[in-house]
Amino acid sequence: MNKNNITYRNPMPEEAEKIVAFYNRMGGESTFLSFVEDEYPLSVKEEEDYIRSLEGNANNVMFLALDGNEIVGLSTITSTHKIKSRHEGELGIVVAKKYHGQGIGTKLIRMAIDWCKGNDVTTRIHLDVSADNLTAISIYLKLGFIMEGCLKNQTLIDGIYYDTYVMGLMLK
Ligand SMILES: CC(C)(COP(=O)(O)OP(=O)(O)OC[C@H]1O[C@@H](n2cnc3c(N)ncnc32)[C@H](O)[C@@H]1OP(=O)(O)O)[C@@H](O)C(=O)NCCC(=O)NCCS
Repeated sequence: MNKNNITYRNPMPEEAEKIVAFYNRMGGESTFLSFVEDEYPLSVKEEEDYIRSLEGNANNVMFLALDGNEIVGLSTITSTHKIKSRHEGELGIVVAKKYHGQGIGTKLIRMAIDWCKGNDVTTRIHLDVSADNLTAISIYLKLGFIMEGCLKNQTLIDGIYYDTYVMGLMLK
């Protein structure tokens, strides 16, 4: 495992099964995702359709980080087609624990931001982050995101409530 061997690219529809499996595994590895192990909401077929829908898509994208053929991280920008809000993209990011601290998360987020800057639609990126997710918050602040608000007690894990910060990055 060497960060120089990590490659980055968009996903292919035939990778849907690997992507769903990756998300389901990440749900168990991290308490900072919105779902737990094996709770990722899309089926393989739905993921495949989603990846197909990304081709030529103006305001939705996914980037994979790969170690050989193994998916080790991914970032997404998810937006609606609605005229009033299509300029807003939600950032999603996850890197497998074994690969943390090598700059992969930062690179995947930068790729998503740069893609938004060039898509002629997105002018605002937002995200929700657990208030105790100091690694993620430090990356977002480093890349220019600002704190926009706090959702009290938004997450409940093993009987303990956690606050969520809303963060945003204006591209215009
Ligand atoms: C957040 C996540 C994507 C970061 O991925 P990564 O590849 O480890 O990130 P990087 O190596 O690019 O950067 C890590 C940064 O966090 C910093 N960091 C690590 N621990 C930290 C801490 N406790 N407090 C503050 N900063 C910390 C590191 O110094 C580094 O910053 P630097 O590059 O400026 O030195 C990864 O931890 C992850 O997938 N977590 C689980 C899912 C998740 O939290 N997703 C975000 C939901 S909002």
